[in-house]
Amino acid sequence: MEHENIVRQIIELLKQAQNDFPKVKDSTSLEKLRIKYLGRKSQITGILKGIKSLSPEAKKTVGQNANSFKQEIVKLLAAKNLDLQASEHEKAERNEKIDVTLPKISKELGHVHPITQMLWQCEDIFQKMGFEIEYPYEVDDDYHNFETLNMPKEHPARDSWDTFWTEDGQMPITHTSSMQNRVLKSKNPPIRVIVPGRCFRNEATDARHEHTFFQIEGVYVDKAITLANMLGTLKAFFTEFYQKEIDVKFTPDFFPFVEPGGMVSLTCIICDGKGCAVCKKSGWLEVLGCGMIHPKVLSMANIDANVYSGFAWGFGLERLIMLKYKIEDIRNFYSGNLQFIRQF
Ligand code: FA5
Repeated sequence: MEHENIVRQIIELLKQAQNDFPKVKDSTSLEKLRIKYLGRKSQITGILKGIKSLSPEAKKTVGQNANSFKQEIVKLLAAKNLDLQASEHEKAERNEKIDVTLPKISKELGHVHPITQMLWQCEDIFQKMGFEIEYPYEVDDDYHNFETLNMPKEHPARDSWDTFWTEDGQMPITHTSSMQNRVLKSKNPPIRVIVPGRCFRNEATDARHEHTFFQIEGVYVDKAITLANMLGTLKAFFTEFYQKEIDVKFTPDFFPFVEPGGMVSLTCIICDGKGCAVCKKSGWLEVLGCGMIHPKVLSMANIDANVYSGFAWGFGLERLIMLKYKIEDIRNFYSGNLQFIRQF
């Protein structure tokens, strides 16, 4: 029968290919074989073209055989390709001149810095709570770092955020509050945004102070928002971050861009609020500045303070990580000490 002849032809063709492929020594010859067995003018393409004149039964048998033939050729091609690559690599290595005086290169893989790991974790938690993320400018102007935050020139509160200035009046941002005006201006309430970013200050460094550190700002504006909403939001965040029930406490304090303003403390993570050396026996740890956004700040961003209210906070990320992993000195993070970094 005609189709039995065709199947025999395919089997013969495969035997021929199995004989041809092992002899290949370079990629040019391999490409030639590919064209010979699978190309447009190959025998198998001719067989497949003629298939339409066969009976349905014969079509099926020839079609199946032709397809398995093609699959076998693809496997032979892939295996030979790998072979060639491996021998080329070996050849290159053999020709390589080795300089025995060079220092040993470590093949150990690095990992993401603990601050970045924790930053991603915080972003993840806030995103799940419905917050968008905006990143600050690392160098910004007086208007955004101070003026739009209700601190006109000569305002004494500016002294708390000392940094250096460029000749054209720009500065490395001293806090992520520098984005408040842009966030408020560019969105319509309800506004829920976090601003994670690096801040810079003229600080005498110690175990809890760095000149460069990360803050995460939060800005939330809608109708009828109160301090209770802020405390609830922060409690939910900290409970998720530390994976245990955390209480928060608000203590009044002054920031020109909030009214009322304050500090939030957490139940001491180290002693669970019982009192220890870290929390100075109080059971509480102060971690952030916050408050209800000042009406002047809202109106500088064209938000009607008679209709809308909102809260904002700013916490230092390193300090939260220090509590999570009981790290005693903030300066470890930027020390380049690999023994410290590898713990994470
Ligand atoms: C501010 O920076 C305000 N912008 C926070 C704020 C935002 C208040 C919105 C009201 C509304 P403060 O200077 O206290 O506030 O810094 C906030 C947090 O940043 C501190 O609680 C601390 O966690 C962290 N922080 C401040 N200075 C340093 C530093 N030198 N090193 C490490 N962390 C710091």
